Amino acid sequence: MSQELQQEIKKRRTFAIISHPDAGKTTLTEKLLLYGGAIHLAGSVKSRKTQRHAVSDWMEIEKQRGISVTSSVLQFNYDDFCINILDTPGHQDFSEDTYRTLMAVDSAVMIIDVAKGVEAQTKKLFRVCRERGIPIFTFVNKLDRFGKAPLDLMDELENVLGIRSYPMNWPVGVDGNYRGVYNRQTKEVELFADDINHGQTERESIIGAYDDEGFMSQLDDAVRAALADDIELLEMAGEAFDLEKVAHGELTPVFFGSAMTNFGVKGFLEEYLRLAPPPQPRMSSDGLISPDDEKFSAFVFKIQANMNPAHRDRLAFIRICSGRFERNMSVYHDRSGKPIKLAQPQQFLAQDRQIIEEAYPGDIVGLFDPGIFGIGDTICDSARRFSYEDFPVFPPEKFARVSAKDTMKRKQFVKGVMQLTQEGAIQLFVQAGAGSDSYIVGTIGTLQFEVLEYRLKNEYGVDIVMQMQPFEVARWLAREDGAEILPSSLKGADRGMFVYDRRENPVLLVNNEWALGWIQDNNPDIELYNVPVDRKAID
Ligand code: G4P
Repeated sequence: MSQELQQEIKKRRTFAIISHPDAGKTTLTEKLLLYGGAIHLAGSVKSRKTQRHAVSDWMEIEKQRGISVTSSVLQFNYDDFCINILDTPGHQDFSEDTYRTLMAVDSAVMIIDVAKGVEAQTKKLFRVCRERGIPIFTFVNKLDRFGKAPLDLMDELENVLGIRSYPMNWPVGVDGNYRGVYNRQTKEVELFADDINHGQTERESIIGAYDDEGFMSQLDDAVRAALADDIELLEMAGEAFDLEKVAHGELTPVFFGSAMTNFGVKGFLEEYLRLAPPPQPRMSSDGLISPDDEKFSAFVFKIQANMNPAHRDRLAFIRICSGRFERNMSVYHDRSGKPIKLAQPQQFLAQDRQIIEEAYPGDIVGLFDPGIFGIGDTICDSARRFSYEDFPVFPPEKFARVSAKDTMKRKQFVKGVMQLTQEGAIQLFVQAGAGSDSYIVGTIGTLQFEVLEYRLKNEYGVDIVMQMQPFEVARWLAREDGAEILPSSLKGADRGMFVYDRRENPVLLVNNEWALGWIQDNNPDIELYNVPVDRKAID
């Protein structure tokens, strides 16, 4: 195998930053770009000032779109590393989109607000990372403010998330006025100069040995005594560092810092790059595929239309898993079973998109998509055909009947709804026996309905009528003998709504588990699944 490929793989770190809204994901991303030299003054990733006034969900959607447009994926270099950061949507509703993004990374950085600790969204995102068994690095942010005691936060990680932690550094100073951090590996203390420009440029610091009396005498006796106590406690009672456990997501290295004031950010970035794994092997229908396999392979994890309203283009984002990607290469597409040529591949550097000539495992490439790609599709060298494991699906929990307000706009309406279904933003159903003027749309959270309404109006010029349905549960219906199931052959079908999914599989929507129990009891020959029969579910 080629040495060049090996080296490119070794250099790559592909990760997502996960956090509850407002914990500092955007700020930290921006600072990593600043240190990587990809931007020069912090504050340019997006204009947060305007977005801060995002009071309504409408604005929230705009914000989400805003983030997607500029920073769905960012690539930059730091030292010898090539870093790919994948953005996870910043809204409250947990979406499949977020989940899929986490399928495409090799590790995650979890941000915790020092004052708030582990929050609701952190828990959900953490769970997904945990299920995948990927390494999770924790950055405790906003140390420039008053917050919880570091030891209490470690307890919280263990009690709320169930993960052991290993502090890589430890704050030096008193709550609300930390002066620096103690590095447990090097046994050095880094003291930061005052933040003079709100973190717009790198922050000056001096580093000295912990046992250097002269250096340490810059600190108050009380601060030194408290630090000595903490260090002793950590060494005696704390977890031992074990990279193997980190690699399996069983132990999280913790870093303390402040993204806004550049306190501890550089140290975090450097340690993270050192410890985080390069692209990892992935399971496929042909066994484990190693990134250094010479044969190219990748999978589609995100599809997004109309990213640029001026161009109305549709991009399929692929994560490269093995081999070398080259512009204009021909690959085998598993779902269509056809060869396709990968023209116009785009990569995202800071805020710019550019056409690229080559890319390596761990990289994310945006492919111009004329409508052939679906989420989870594999593309690979036609000399070795296989499929990566399908993405699990989330059972929908909210349902609405949706139609175009103006029947003259039906064509655009159908186009828009189909597009959003292919992007995986919504799940589409048709009521049995009903005309095709309306669809039943299923989602996981209510925000997705607002996204649907907003995008249909803005991208397709269609106003919609939406009637929420009382159902909370969808069950795909199947019979062991494979015989067709009709509404008339299901006892109690009128207790819910009999619909078909977009592949024409029969599905029953019901109000609750109780109704479901009744259906099951009265139709013993019918099997009920919470996702399509051939797909894996995430509960
Ligand atoms: P998010 O992407 O996770 O939602 O969070 P974001 O980075 O947008 O940060 C949310 C708020 O927290 C912002 O304040 C940001 O400046 C602030 N913040 C981020 N890191 C730190 C930190 O280390 N210390 C302190 N004190 N604040 C931090 P904002 O007032 O909403 O916006 P802005 O006016 O500062 O842009």
